[in-house]
Amino acid sequence: MTMEIRPLSDALGAEALGVDLADLDEAGFARLRQALVEHCVLVVRDQASLTPEAHIGFTRRFGEPAVHVKTEFNLPEHPEVLVLSNRKKPDGSPIGFEEAGRYWHSDVSYGDEPVMASLLLAVDIPPKGGDTLYCNMYRAYDSLSDAMKQRIDGRKAVHSYLVGLTGKTAAGAKRVSLSDEQKASLKDTAHPIVRTHPETGRKALFVNPGFTFRLEDEDEETGKALLADLFEHAARPENVYRHIWRPHDLVMWDNRCTMHHATPYDPQYTRHMHRTTVKGDRPV
Ligand code: OGA
Ligand code: MN
Repeated sequence: MTMEIRPLSDALGAEALGVDLADLDEAGFARLRQALVEHCVLVVRDQASLTPEAHIGFTRRFGEPAVHVKTEFNLPEHPEVLVLSNRKKPDGSPIGFEEAGRYWHSDVSYGDEPVMASLLLAVDIPPKGGDTLYCNMYRAYDSLSDAMKQRIDGRKAVHSYLVGLTGKTAAGAKRVSLSDEQKASLKDTAHPIVRTHPETGRKALFVNPGFTFRLEDEDEETGKALLADLFEHAARPENVYRHIWRPHDLVMWDNRCTMHHATPYDPQYTRHMHRTTVKGDRPV
């Protein structure tokens, strides 16, 4: 197979064709990795035969896989794989996240060391709807006014998963309940509002309405207005690529320079996805 990589939009994103992720040599992997760093989002088409084992195996080439806190939604034999799905168990309970991420967010930004990349495989998708939006946070930063850049330079914002459980984030996001033990494993964390990408050396805005709810060392109300301005500025159409899924797409994204946003679909159709993530560094 000959690998081909083509940009998908002016904002961010590229697609790779002629790739089998379960059978990829070192040179092929290096090209994909490079394309991900360059385009922030990389769509690998036609991964129909990617088993959970192969998905995890490919993920490991980037680094150590992370395990999501909502453990009952991970595949029992493969806890590295999180299920996003509207399929139900025979007793009617969900097998995975049904409405995951319907707000702008960067995966696990509420962690001290947020995941650097996520790899989402479309196992079964609806004929329409359920698109995923991606936002380029380098462009979001670069296009800020000098005054705003000065205002946020060196400052931190607080990210939280728990706050979302009470609907108190800017996104007002609905979040599934967690056990007391799962809650105890989470705590709020502060990250720089502007982070420097460890591989490109470029600055990216690193706040998101899903998890970032206040500025460090400032009362919540003042911080809210500034954050709201940043969120609105970031998600402008010229910074966004809408991914319309094709069956068996595997989409990987770099959480260090993007946000993403799930969109709804008609629940009479099935949407079933497998997600892995790669552990990352503390943002600086
Ligand atoms: C995720 C996520 C969005 C979607 O997998 O982290 O936010 O459209 N998914 O399923
Ligand atoms: Mn997500």
